[in-house]
Amino acid sequence: MCGIVGYVGSRPVLPVLLDGLRRLEYRGYDSAGVALQNSDGVLIRKACGRLSVLEARVTDITEAGGFTAGMGHTRWATHGRPSDENSHPHCCLSGTIAVVHNGIIENYQRLRHKMEQAGHHLVSETDTEVIPHLIEEYYQGDLVAATRAAMTELEGSFALLVMSSDEPGLLVAVRKDSPLVIGLGEGENFVASDIPAVMEYTKRTFILDDGELAVVRSDGVEIQDGTGAPKVKPVFDVPWDVQAAEKGGYPHFMLKEIYEQPKAMEETLRGRLIDGGIFLPEFGLDAETAQGIERIHLVACGTSHHACLVGKYLIERLARLPVEVDVASEFRYREPLVTANDLVIAVSQSGETADTLAALREGRRRGARGIAVCNVVGSTIAREAEAALYTRAGLELAVASTKAYVTQVVALTLLAVELASLRGLLGAQELGQWVSQLQKLPQWSREALALAPEIETMAQELARWEHAFFIGRGLDYAVALEGQLKLKEISYIHAEAYAAGELKHGTLALIVDDIPVVALATQSHVFGKTISNITEVRARGGKVFGFSKDKAMAQYVDRMLVLPDCPDLLAPAVAVIPLQLLSYYTALIRECDVDKPRNLAKSVTVE
Ligand code: M6R
Repeated sequence: MCGIVGYVGSRPVLPVLLDGLRRLEYRGYDSAGVALQNSDGVLIRKACGRLSVLEARVTDITEAGGFTAGMGHTRWATHGRPSDENSHPHCCLSGTIAVVHNGIIENYQRLRHKMEQAGHHLVSETDTEVIPHLIEEYYQGDLVAATRAAMTELEGSFALLVMSSDEPGLLVAVRKDSPLVIGLGEGENFVASDIPAVMEYTKRTFILDDGELAVVRSDGVEIQDGTGAPKVKPVFDVPWDVQAAEKGGYPHFMLKEIYEQPKAMEETLRGRLIDGGIFLPEFGLDAETAQGIERIHLVACGTSHHACLVGKYLIERLARLPVEVDVASEFRYREPLVTANDLVIAVSQSGETADTLAALREGRRRGARGIAVCNVVGSTIAREAEAALYTRAGLELAVASTKAYVTQVVALTLLAVELASLRGLLGAQELGQWVSQLQKLPQWSREALALAPEIETMAQELARWEHAFFIGRGLDYAVALEGQLKLKEISYIHAEAYAAGELKHGTLALIVDDIPVVALATQSHVFGKTISNITEVRARGGKVFGFSKDKAMAQYVDRMLVLPDCPDLLAPAVAVIPLQLLSYYTALIRECDVDKPRNLAKSVTVE
């Protein structure tokens, strides 16, 4: 979604804002803008397009301007197309109050009508623009009071930064259902949608909770609760270093993150495999609670949803517990059957995805225990869940998720094995085998990365097509879904994934000469069945790129990649890596913007 950043202090303000926006660009990159405050008032510059367009428009702004506070915004359009007018910051009638916003104001049309009736002239198509006008209506020399009053009229989700030319050196930050972090410095303070924007300057942060308001000045930050009473919050020390937010010699964040996967898996496993057993104290599961679970609901979006499909397969197979996987945006609108003996597990890299958060809340509202599998420590989903298992993938900045997926798969595998053990379905010997195999996962993933040159050659053939299919059975189907999503989102090739046996029920009609079909066959018990489906495709002219541990596949496909020889049930975290690389190289050949695919944003904090 959108990224917002604010600064109050004695550094040159503009570079701090632009640097923060650069680090937040993954949240949206349709347009960008800044507002800078000095004793003369508030100066606003904004531009449709990437941050570089804005940078070209602010070259005349220098330190001589004496700016002491400012805020910036990078936009992912929801209401109103990307344009200069629709870019943030937005201003009130008199030009004194400026606002940047992440979220959606659901009642903006009614408020807009009300403002226009009161004589305000609104110039953009956005939902945001009503906010500075509304604050202006309430303003009587106290920006905090006016912002708080305006908040009572806003419906929807918002993280806001507000400043007024009448109150120099003050930023007001408020949050409802959209993330906001305060960075604490010495004689300076920061506000941002996400930690990477402030990490270079400070690692001491407050993470705002819903309904909280922060009064941010250079000499201090006061947090107020929903009633306006001061609140003491614990300082959250950021666990990552600044280098994690750099590309470290790789041309793209995506490639860097793909290559970080062995390390990320090691982190996910660290301290969780002890004495031949699984150790997940975060979940507080014991044999009695594990026996008492009636059903598990996995809720997530996009790539995280695909990790859940792997989780379902493993939990059902190993722990013999029924698991439902829901696309989070559907869960709460389908009156789900959830009981107090159920476990709802929200799976999310960012921990801020609005749909997943809403699904977690829905599950808990219906009486289930709600837990989280999350990457970002202290994120909203992790905090709202009764327990959180952190995947420890480290900072993931590329819009296309890679290391977050494999670590989610590893975390869900740990959970499946732990549940099976607690439910008495795994003996000590079998459990020990699982532990030693899990320890080898990072090595198998390194072997998968070593296949990059062969994959690059495959990408040359794939890149000239506008359509592609992915097929697989069982766990391979789940991985195929993730493979096709990666290809679609960064190379813009239309791709679809099918359970291999399903193709003949309609989609086979689309198989024409040379159309690329990526076939996965890592599951020994259905290897022969998948080969049959592959021959059906080839009989119709399809060009099959086969991915398997079993070299026997070579004779049935046009091109084959031999995958590392890992156990079938651990194959998803390994087999997905060549698919990520295939998408990456294909996107490069097609000259696509790998880290910032069109129309997308990393963290989707609106419904
Ligand atoms: O942060 P989350 O895991 O909750 O994000 C969910 C999806 O938006 C995300 O996985 C998305 O599908 C990926 N960026 C795709 O690569």
